[in-house]
Amino acid sequence: MNKGIKIVTIGGGSSYTPELIEGFIKRYDSLPISEIWLVDIPEGEEKLNIVGGLAKRMVKEAGLPIEVHLTLDRRKALKDADFVTTQLRVGLLDARAKDERIPLKYGVIGQETNGPGGLFKGLRTIPVILDIVKDMEELCPDAWLINFANPAGMVTEAVLRHSNWKKVIGLCNVPVMMKMSVAELLDVDPKRVHMDLAGLNHMVYGLNVYLDGELYTEQYIDKLTSNDSSSGTMKNIIDLKWEPDFIKALQAIPCPYHRYYYKTDEMFEEESNAAKAEGTRAEVVQKLEKELFELYNDEKLAIKPPQLENRGGAYYSDAACSLIDSIYNDRKDIQTVNTINNGAIASIPDESAIEINCVITKDGPKPIGIGDLPVATRGLVQQIKSFERIAAEAAVTGDYQTALLAMTINPLVPSDTVAKQILDEMLEAHKDYLPQFQL
Ligand code: G6P
Repeated sequence: MNKGIKIVTIGGGSSYTPELIEGFIKRYDSLPISEIWLVDIPEGEEKLNIVGGLAKRMVKEAGLPIEVHLTLDRRKALKDADFVTTQLRVGLLDARAKDERIPLKYGVIGQETNGPGGLFKGLRTIPVILDIVKDMEELCPDAWLINFANPAGMVTEAVLRHSNWKKVIGLCNVPVMMKMSVAELLDVDPKRVHMDLAGLNHMVYGLNVYLDGELYTEQYIDKLTSNDSSSGTMKNIIDLKWEPDFIKALQAIPCPYHRYYYKTDEMFEEESNAAKAEGTRAEVVQKLEKELFELYNDEKLAIKPPQLENRGGAYYSDAACSLIDSIYNDRKDIQTVNTINNGAIASIPDESAIEINCVITKDGPKPIGIGDLPVATRGLVQQIKSFERIAAEAAVTGDYQTALLAMTINPLVPSDTVAKQILDEMLEAHKDYLPQFQL
């Protein structure tokens, strides 16, 4: 008899975990999971117990023979795993709040995955992920690593370049949300919409839109630029409208995060105002999480509560479950993931991570090459790729100059002087989580 599938989720105490569990329950017939191990660190133990309790109730309610284990012992969990998902946040939301607030003082966007905030999230996260990879080499060498810890593109880049581990896939909900936004604007079922998506994580472009298999890009761009409701976004990014003539000239659909690059001044303004009024996004999320965990703690709750959809990462875990299902069942369907380029986008190095439509097979994602990105998008994408690559190197080496280089070449940072000021303040603020810098 085949043994069931063993899933390990590191950062299992995350408020997103019920979505993951729901995704596995929904797919049980094709994805016979026997064990789910939710792993966390001592600081996350309380959350792990609460969300783990809900996970157990959800499985029981569904009447499925899935064992849910809660543990702080990562190595014990990893033994013989088939799929390992990572959804951790080093330094918790307090660290994110610092990533968001400190750059603002210097007139720079403070954001979870972009600019200085993205750099520091990478510096904190990458060494931890590389440690997990080392454990995996020893304890579950055949497993797939599916990472949704941010910055997912930079983390995938780091694993590809700084470890021997090849079975890594970075995952994001932006592609899913972009397709949903198209469907919403066209007022059709999302299943009828397909998009050619290519670029980098949080910097992906919709190059074409299809409705019922027919090319629909022109019609969609007309609608997008004439409609005055939404330009398509997610809960964590304000819905600032694109300049219609810009989108018509671009002939591509930017992702919600492109607002930080194409609308930098307005986004800065919005962020600074929000930081003064309701707090930065991390501070808002801290309140949302508190409410979510109160709900999760209710012994009578045995489903994923709808309030979870107020988080920017809604549908993340669903995307992860679909991906695992397609690998396990060799479905050969198309999903948008972060994987090694290998020539799929000509202007990006072959060994780098890109976010692109892939055919998902039992041997992993096979990118659908696009030739190259449109010339208007190429420069920005290359610059961000260089930033991610140098940032990953700084995370691994702990070298100050490399970190300064990454900070300075980031397009959201105006000068080397400001880069150094922000870098110094953030290195100090985060020093407990940056042992590689020996501060
Ligand atoms: C989006 C991004 C995720 C990010 C999330 C933040 O969905 O794609 O990478 O983690 O937003 O949402 P939050 O509710 O934490 O602000």
